[in-house]
Amino acid sequence: MKKQRTLLWLLFLLSLGACQPEETASTKNVLPIESFEIKVGSDTTITTSRGIILHFSPQTLIAKEEKVTIAVKAALSRFEMVSEGLSSLTTEGELLESMGMFHLDSPSEVQINAAYPIQVKLPSDKMTTAAKVFTGSNVGKTVKWEESTALDSSAVFRRIAQGAQLFDQYCTNCHNLNLRDQLTGPALGRITSFRDSSFLMAFTRNSQQLIAAGDTLALCLFQAWNNSVMTSFDSLSDPQIWSIYEYIESESIARGISTSEMTYLDTCDLNIDPFGHTTAQGIEYSYDANGNIIDSTNRTDTGYRYTPPPVSPSFPRSSNRSTLSQQLDYYEFDLSEFGWYNVDLYTNAEVGEIENFKFKLELDDPERFNGFAIFRHRAVIIPLQYYEGVYYLLNGWGKEKIKFPETISMRIILMEDTEADELEVAYLEVVSQLEDNDYELELEQMKKEEVVWLVNEE
Ligand code: HEC
Repeated sequence: MKKQRTLLWLLFLLSLGACQPEETASTKNVLPIESFEIKVGSDTTITTSRGIILHFSPQTLIAKEEKVTIAVKAALSRFEMVSEGLSSLTTEGELLESMGMFHLDSPSEVQINAAYPIQVKLPSDKMTTAAKVFTGSNVGKTVKWEESTALDSSAVFRRIAQGAQLFDQYCTNCHNLNLRDQLTGPALGRITSFRDSSFLMAFTRNSQQLIAAGDTLALCLFQAWNNSVMTSFDSLSDPQIWSIYEYIESESIARGISTSEMTYLDTCDLNIDPFGHTTAQGIEYSYDANGNIIDSTNRTDTGYRYTPPPVSPSFPRSSNRSTLSQQLDYYEFDLSEFGWYNVDLYTNAEVGEIENFKFKLELDDPERFNGFAIFRHRAVIIPLQYYEGVYYLLNGWGKEKIKFPETISMRIILMEDTEADELEVAYLEVVSQLEDNDYELELEQMKKEEVVWLVNEE
């Protein structure tokens, strides 16, 4: 049965292959191009408006003219990527997750000296040591990627390596290495998106001190984990502790853990004792005559039996993800050719026999639309292919099917190619399934900013 269907599918693909339009080698050219004039033979550093830093040594550019122009186009946000019609597929149809793409070009007659390449720093708030540099080539109306040069070991990469070692040494007895599942303590995947850095530093150094001081979040955690005491790490320095969290973030991204799949304690019931102290339920303190806690570690029974109304503080997701150094982090690498560049990691999205995704929508003018699938919270972008009232998720016509993970939440978005403030959009949330990936799309009017949010949502 399966075999027969595969055969039919192949025949169908072949029949489609025969009636495809000519491939045109260009992206949509909607992103702004920034031009910089550089004096040949000079030591020059340029910073684009999107924060990409390019360094040219005096030997880097080979040209007859004295001055050359360098043109840069950046697609760092997911919305920029999809507006330009870019995908995150390799030439082999593997799924990548992008940390940022850009295009480097020159209208001048100039070559890059491979012995003195351009040094690139690509800013990103998603740093992972699993990332690699890919170069792009135009395939149809999109760009497909191939792994190329390695990333340089930058300062942040060295910190992450140190953090990995400390995490292994001090935390993995109680916190799961896979960052997704609980152990003696909670799973820690993507935690820097949920807790303030100041809380993380203080809690890691000495959680019992925070609890004694009446920090409501520390109290709630302690209570939720049956009053189990986390080891203190008073001897670790601030940079050492922060490197652990940089490692946790790097490893979470490498493992494809999105913030949406992690749940962290966000509220609990606490008691207020007779002196107005907030306490975890079931904990008794000793007090002096003035009502100050005098013994918070031994928790001797004081004889007080008082049940005040519980308070239920809430701990919303932290917006303070700044690193201790307060500096932007960069992916650093060298390049010696003009063209498309992309820092990505392989999503390793393997699953066996997955049937094709089909999205039905009759359009008079499909050329007017830009269709793609995007993983929730991740820059994994797959262009949709239109044929006679149906959009398909394929790695180009006549090519192999794309390998999807068994369960992944995706957004299917079809948006009108326009600069207007309102545009026609069809969108759908889907979870990949082994079969029956048959859906209907419907167009609606949407404000541009809503569409940007749909695509960029963190
Ligand atoms: C002895 C076991 C143990 C060790 C070792 C340990 N933890 Fe914990 N950790 C816990 C427990 C249990 C909790 C739950 C809170 C509580 O009981 O105080 C916790 C909670 C946490 C939390 C709070 C999570 C949240 O929801 O905000 C963070 C962050 C944390 N640990 C980080 C670390 C780091 C980093 C290390 C290594 C330097 C570490 N822990 C080592 C047991 C441990």
